[in-house]
Amino acid sequence: MKNLLIVHGPNLNLLGEREPQIYGNDSLKTLNASIECFAEKMGLQVKSFQSNHEGALIDFIHEQRNWAEAIVINPGALTHYSYALRDSIAAVNLPSIEVHLSDVNQREEFRKISVIKDVCEKQISGLGKEGYLRAVEYLVGLDVLNKLQGSNPDSKGRDETLRMVVKLLKESFPKYSWVGIYLVEGAELVLHNYMGKPSPHTRIPIGQGICGAAVHEKKSIIVDDVNADPRYLACSIETRSEIVIPIMSGNKVFGEIDIDSDLEAIFHDSDQEILEKCAAVLAKLF
Ligand code: DQA
Repeated sequence: MKNLLIVHGPNLNLLGEREPQIYGNDSLKTLNASIECFAEKMGLQVKSFQSNHEGALIDFIHEQRNWAEAIVINPGALTHYSYALRDSIAAVNLPSIEVHLSDVNQREEFRKISVIKDVCEKQISGLGKEGYLRAVEYLVGLDVLNKLQGSNPDSKGRDETLRMVVKLLKESFPKYSWVGIYLVEGAELVLHNYMGKPSPHTRIPIGQGICGAAVHEKKSIIVDDVNADPRYLACSIETRSEIVIPIMSGNKVFGEIDIDSDLEAIFHDSDQEILEKCAAVLAKLF
């Protein structure tokens, strides 16, 4: 996935002036610049568009349908009633995410209704500018997942698939400084493959470290600040945060995806959601 549309609906041209207590102080130009800069760092090309007219938004989506590979859309008030806009998203059949600056579920009743969200991968609401960035990341994550599923893991074989996932994740997410997969061997986790700086922890007893804890507890763990977590087994002084996702089927854990970042508090629900989907694909290989 390389080409992304950012689409803004009615009244979003007035961002910065319009009800700043709800929508913030950034202008649309500043917002677009932040999204574009973020997306470009993830290797994407972006086309941004805003209109106050339903038909113009639909025309833009149609015109760009062969260039675009995904859409992030804040439909503004059209969210709540535009079946035409909804149909245009369904028609072009591109993975799309509905974003709102404000939390539409905590405002007037009419804003709780979205006629758009069913044709989108998800709705992200109430995170301000950050919501758009999470949407971009989620779409990149879905692309990784599609590549993994499309690579025919069963015939490719386990080792090659495990290496492929690590490479795809490391190369798709600049914020992932270290990506590795550990496999359970007896009472230990053994490093299968990784990308990033060499780690001294090639064998970790289950139950030790954040890695060991995730396997022991059979659940994903996000640590925002590794230095504040007594379980953390230091491997690089630059590491600030970590996410660990068990590769499991039912109650049985086969291994885990372990990711470090040099940025603090950088892993979100959306990382966890995508990585758990990747882990579920990998679990089928065991
Ligand atoms: C909005 C929420 C909509 O209900 C409203 O009509 C907008 C902006 C948001 O970003 O919070 O125009 O989409």
